[in-house]
Formats: sequence, structure tokens, C-alpha cells
Amino acid sequence: MAAPTFGLDIGRSFIKVVQVKVSGSKKVLWAAGSVKTPNGGIETESPVDLEKVAEAVKAARSSAKVNSRHCMVSIIESQVVTRMIQMPALTDKELSAAIHWEAEQYIPLPLKDVNLQYKVILRPDKSTSGKMDVLLIAAPKRVISKYLNIVKMAGLEIGALETESAALSRALSTPTDPPTIIVSMGAVSTEMVIALSGNVLFTRSIATGGVSLTRTIMAEFNLPANQAEEYKQTYGILEDKLSGKVAAILKPILDILTAEILKAVQFARTHIQQSQIVRIVICGGGAYLPGLSAFLAERTSLEVSLGDPWEKFAKEDLILKLPGQGSFYAVATGLALRS
Ligand SMILES: Nc1ncnc2c1ncn2[C@@H]1O[C@H](COP(=O)(O)OP(=O)(O)OP(=O)(O)O)[C@@H](O)[C@H]1O
Ligand SMILES: [Mg+2]
Repeated sequence: MAAPTFGLDIGRSFIKVVQVKVSGSKKVLWAAGSVKTPNGGIETESPVDLEKVAEAVKAARSSAKVNSRHCMVSIIESQVVTRMIQMPALTDKELSAAIHWEAEQYIPLPLKDVNLQYKVILRPDKSTSGKMDVLLIAAPKRVISKYLNIVKMAGLEIGALETESAALSRALSTPTDPPTIIVSMGAVSTEMVIALSGNVLFTRSIATGGVSLTRTIMAEFNLPANQAEEYKQTYGILEDKLSGKVAAILKPILDILTAEILKAVQFARTHIQQSQIVRIVICGGGAYLPGLSAFLAERTSLEVSLGDPWEKFAKEDLILKLPGQGSFYAVATGLALRS
């Protein structure tokens, strides 16, 4: 039997769905598929456009042959505030009483307008007087209701709504991995997530993604969007392609991204316990940019790899038909794996 739920990632460029069949420790990719996101995607305020998004969700689900109506959905990272805070060691009861007062200092939105969740990431040893690390996640109620609406219009039921960072950590970090920075490059934004054992320690979203790269190529070479996209996907930032001309205009944008990655790594080093980062895992559609891994490795001196959430899945059936595509489905897979 396939899992009774599936993962739904409504990206600004593609809507992705993934369903996983789990039996014991064996995981089989049961369904995976994507459709282009209609204009505006989740960020539109128009009811007509939201209905189009719902229709596209239906199309993605049926073309991928998902056999469940129950979905786990990701909320766009930039719409959510995620903060790791330190508090004196408290019991669960004390924490639940104190957390709202504490959160007010860190969440830049009125608490009455957000849905606040928290999770204890590190509890100090009872014998020490150390502090505990608590992760705060605040999602605006207005944004949540938009997702609920889409899911309802698509004729589906929602099991949970979680951040992209939570789904990515589940998909791409296991208890045996060292602390990792996941860099998920989508169409509109890039998410940086510091993950340890499937937990999120830090997140940051920057407003640069695949679209910025394509637009730069369009402007520089005076090309239409589809051709610029082809240049990007074919030449990327390889120096030996087109005399390095595409590389030369894209690298300055990626340098900004690299600086942000290094800042996050540095921040984690000084502010978060247990987070000496030694590796970068890249994912999302933008991770397929030719030359990106080597570029990041050279600039950061960290180990870089393309994240594959299906790495430990059984190599049978559908997975064999989608070689190398796991990275594109990282968020949707993390959602599908939520139990
Ligand atoms: N081979 C490739 N080289 C470079 N970029 C690529 C390649 N394949 C896909 N992309 C880019 O990946 C992006 C789409 O990725 P993805 O589906 O992860 O984004 P999204 O989830 O829809 O966007 P967002 O997360 O910002 O909402 C597009 O900008 C596309 O140009
Ligand atoms: Mg995305």
C-alpha cells in the first residue's frame, strides 16, 4: 500500500507532488510529477488566479497518479518567520506558559495574526546550567488560509502545513550526517537551511533564484525568455562554454548568494550549539545549473553535493524512470515522508 498521504509543493515555477510507499525501512517512490504553476501562483491575491492554481494542483495529482486525497503542504519560506532562540532550561509546562511572551521579542508580526509553533532542539544536561535552544516558527494566518483554500478547491484534505525548511531537513539530513547547510534554489528565491538530524537550526530566504539568472541572460544577450532559459540550462557557469560569456554574467549574482551562505555558516558557528558546518547540499531546480557545485566548492571551501532525497529509496519502478530528478522534488519528498 502507498502511504495515505502525499507531499504537495506549490512552487512559483512548478507545482510538485510526491507519494512514497514505506514498508518497514524500505521506501519506494510511488508517484512523482509536476506541472507548470499558473501565473502568480500562491502569491496572487486574485480569487480567479487562485482557482487556476487549484486546478493545476488537481492536474499534477492526477497526472502523477497519486492515489490519496490527503496532502502535506509546504508554505513558502519567505512568508514564515523561523528563529532559534535560547531560553533558560524549562519544563514543557513552563515553556508553554512562557513561550508567547518570549516570542513577542523575536517575531516581527503581531502574535494575534500568526500561527505560532515551537520545538525544543537542544535541552542542556540537568547537571549543567546551560540554556536550551528553542525553534520558533510563525506563519501569518492570512497566508495559511490561502493554502487551505487552494487545497479545498482542489478537492483535497490537508494533513499538515509546514515550512519548506522543515521538509528539506527531513528529506536531506539524517541522524548520521554532519551539520549541513541545504541551499535550495527555486525560481524566485533561494532558501538556506542549516539542518542537523532532520531538524532545522536556522533558515534564511533570499530573493534570488533561477528567474534572476534567466533575466540577466535575456538582458545581456538580448534574447527571449525561452532561449535565455536554454542558454542557462546548457552553458550554466562553465568557463569552456561560449567562451565563458554566460559564466561571466551569472557569476556576480552567484557571488552574492555565496556571501549569504558564508554568512549563515559563520552565524551558525558563533550562535548555534553543535553546528560546525562542513558541507553544502544543493537542491531545487536551480541546483542543476551546470558548474554550480564546483563553483560553490571553490568559493566556500566546503564539500558540495547535489541533494538526492531518493538516495536510499529502493531502486525499482518509477524511480528508474526519473534518474537524477530527486533534487527537483526535495521539498515534496520531505513532505511525503512526514509521518
Ligand atoms: N538545468 C538547469 N540549469 C539551471 N536552472 C535550471 C535547470 N533546470 C531548472 N532550472 C531552474 O529551476 C527553477 C525551477 O526550480 P523549482 O521548481 O525548484 O522552483 P520553484 O519551486 O517553482 O520556485 P520557488 O521555490 O522559488 O517558489 C527555474 O528557474 C528553472 O530555470
Ligand atoms: Mg521551490
